[in-house]
Amino acid sequence: MDPKTLREKYFAFFAEKKHAVISSSSLIPVNDSSVLFTTAGMQPLVPYLLGQKHPQGTRLVNIQKCLRTVDFDNIGDNTHHTFFQMLGNWSLGDYFKKESIAWSWEFLTSPKWMAISPSMLGITVYKGDSLVARDDESVALWKEQGVPVGRIAFCGKDNFWSAGDTGPCGPSTEIFFWTGDSKAPDVFDAEDNRWVEIWNNVFMSYNRLADGSLVELASKNVDTGMGFERELAVLSGQKSAYETELFMPMIRELELMSGRDYIDSMKAMRVVVDHIRAATFILGDDAGIVPANVDRGYILRRLIRRAIRYAKLIGIDSMFAVRIASIVIAEYGGYYTELVRNKEKILAELQKEEDRFTLTLEKGLREFNKIAEQPGVVCGKDAFLLFQSYGFPIEMTEELAGELGRSVDVAAFKVEFEHHQKLSRSATGGMFKGGLADHGEQTVRLHTATHLLNEALRRVLGNDVHQKGSNITPERLRFDFNFSRKLTAEEVKKVEDEVNRVISLGVAVVRREMPYDEAVKLGAEMEFGVKYPATVSVYFVGEYSKEFCGGPHVTNTSELGRFVIQKEEASAAGVRRIKATVVVG
Ligand code: SER
Repeated sequence: MDPKTLREKYFAFFAEKKHAVISSSSLIPVNDSSVLFTTAGMQPLVPYLLGQKHPQGTRLVNIQKCLRTVDFDNIGDNTHHTFFQMLGNWSLGDYFKKESIAWSWEFLTSPKWMAISPSMLGITVYKGDSLVARDDESVALWKEQGVPVGRIAFCGKDNFWSAGDTGPCGPSTEIFFWTGDSKAPDVFDAEDNRWVEIWNNVFMSYNRLADGSLVELASKNVDTGMGFERELAVLSGQKSAYETELFMPMIRELELMSGRDYIDSMKAMRVVVDHIRAATFILGDDAGIVPANVDRGYILRRLIRRAIRYAKLIGIDSMFAVRIASIVIAEYGGYYTELVRNKEKILAELQKEEDRFTLTLEKGLREFNKIAEQPGVVCGKDAFLLFQSYGFPIEMTEELAGELGRSVDVAAFKVEFEHHQKLSRSATGGMFKGGLADHGEQTVRLHTATHLLNEALRRVLGNDVHQKGSNITPERLRFDFNFSRKLTAEEVKKVEDEVNRVISLGVAVVRREMPYDEAVKLGAEMEFGVKYPATVSVYFVGEYSKEFCGGPHVTNTSELGRFVIQKEEASAAGVRRIKATVVVG
């Protein structure tokens, strides 16, 4: 079966059962800084699982983009991917166990739908604990579907599902598929990894509070999640999704580029296509994440750099990321249109990161080999040198060391890292005399910081505040604005915090050309007294700020580092002046 057919059949089946199709939420959780990426279909739906009314009703169906980075090391096996898609059907206080179980079974086994033989399936059910009873009701419902007793197993913690320490949760029942070469055993054993979990039906009937207690929800919900990749593998008669149309077009390209066979280079090729696919989706998300040394940007950087190292292992050492990403965009862009919309940015960022890292990888590997000649644990200083001079994420150094049966003193690395950050902050705090910052890039950063400051001032001091002039040198920005009195220390701090808040959100900066009148209508900020042409260029920092401006600017606010106000003073009557800078690294 091909990916499109599976997706459409799933939607069609649940549409028949009166579900409204909703689109995938962003891969980057909106308004939730506690998690880096969306890791499950339920995450964006939490408010509705807790009782808020969903505008599209009480029965929903979707496919959600997810990313899990807990364990990069599993990548390369048959069943794990960093980026994956989750098919889900949802009842928000509507149907419960009976329908959910009956429909999952019908979808999987009916000849009209997936036509999977029931003899290949096994079921787990929650065995209960001191707070929640054993789920005998689900057992009875599975038996009604004709599942033999031997194929139903009681399980513990894997069958109680929640997205976090608190929030909606409940017992679940899971469906497994037999992937072994021999005939499926009559007795299902969830511990045997030839049984692969394909669908998880969670009966979300509780809310877990901070003290660990469970409160029953007013309305009982169903949250199901079926791994799209795994399901497609099953339906294609493959052990792994890598061997389906989800990945084969990219793997074929790697075979061409490397002159090697997938069969002989399986782990490396799997890592490359998994990571580049994930990176393409992160870059393709409208949230505008770019490679960086912190947070989401760092995960992205790790994915790309690890893919580069593995590509090199199979003899590919240039220009592969863009070629693989182009295939991802071509294959997935029909449904995930954001990939097409953001194609240019995806390819440009991948190429930039590949160029950057290729420059240092070879030398860094030589340095690593030298370091590894010393016996024992790789020390923090050496790991930091690899990070600082050759761009090796600490996890990459750990992996390299691990391949030699060695380990890295990660705690000491962190101490080095923090020590260096403090040093570079004090060195760059005023003048950048240490030569740590690139002046061209620094000027561009300050330019974008000026836009953020302009908007932050309005938010803190009121909507009447506007720009009266500005000047940027590589060391600092200077910004004049109308305001009748000196700012209090508290106000200065508020403005600084506001700018840093937007920086840490990692908002995309986008330029658009438009007729002057349209820009005015949009409420774009302009400088009083300046004469603008009929077609103007407007810079948007997400939804946060829009300004008439010729640029150039950074592509994402996360590139700005930390914003620091150095001085607030009088400039002219009714005009105040702020001097500020950004500190990166
Ligand atoms: N929340 C459950 C999971 O992620 C079912 O969607 O497996």
